Amino acid sequence: MAEIKITHETDPIGATITGLDLGSDMSEGEFKTVRETVNARAVVVIRDQVALPSERLVTFARLFGTPQVNVRADANNEANPEVFWVSNVHENGKPLGSHDAGRYWHSDLCYLEKPSDVTLLHALEVPATDGVSYGATEFISATAAYDSLSDDLKEKIAGVTARNGYRYMWNRKAHEFGKRPVLSDAELKKFPEDAVHPIVRTHPRTGRKCLYVCDGYTHAIDGWAEDESRETLDALFAHLLDPGFRYRHEWRVGDLLIWDNCAVQHKANFDYPPELRRRMQRCTIEGDVPF
Ligand code: OGA
Ligand code: MN
Repeated sequence: MAEIKITHETDPIGATITGLDLGSDMSEGEFKTVRETVNARAVVVIRDQVALPSERLVTFARLFGTPQVNVRADANNEANPEVFWVSNVHENGKPLGSHDAGRYWHSDLCYLEKPSDVTLLHALEVPATDGVSYGATEFISATAAYDSLSDDLKEKIAGVTARNGYRYMWNRKAHEFGKRPVLSDAELKKFPEDAVHPIVRTHPRTGRKCLYVCDGYTHAIDGWAEDESRETLDALFAHLLDPGFRYRHEWRVGDLLIWDNCAVQHKANFDYPPELRRRMQRCTIEGDVPF
């Protein structure tokens, strides 16, 4: 069997694992290595999982915890509802899964009382022409972002909570990108109500503090006047964009990317034309109530 190799060239986040085959069951020791690498590096790619059926993705995902079934039922894999399609392709005349996932900087499922712990995203098709691939996924270290806030700002946001809204995100995307219908207030009610979470989270495994505001979803600081809430959220979103906290994942077919939704935020790139196919399958794992 090939030897597991772990490398990382970027800081503070990102790592590459080779020499693993998720088509067969992993030993406890191998999984411990993966788990520790995710804790330490927050974004980890396991390369070369080219033939990974959705049920094997779920089997591997279960080693991290309980897979979540996404609130957007039309984008879930029919045979395995814990698997969510992220793609730009059409099948039988209908869009397969979500065509606008990850447009804004965010952390997965932050609109739920128990947001995602880790996400696993597996590349079945990657848009590419002339040897250049498109549709990279970008990451920001939420830990480094918190650590580098000014003492004043750290003090100002200590103990503060904010509202994270799926309904808010839905219509914002619908208006901005036209890939989903604009819904009435009554129609939006089928989706969860806002979740209220601390904007500074403590990581449940590493104990590090992480900045937890998502541009796509976090729309109001609880109990603050609207102006001050907007101004502070905008300042925090701007701070997150510091190029020093970044990792950019350039996809290859067969990559299984794992990220930690407390330690990082992420965003998709839509830099390819519609005729280049991108098809990914995703599994998110339920996390703790943020504290
Ligand atoms: C996601 C997501 C980004 C991408 O699936 O949660 O944000 O690049 N995807 O597809
Ligand atoms: Mn996402």
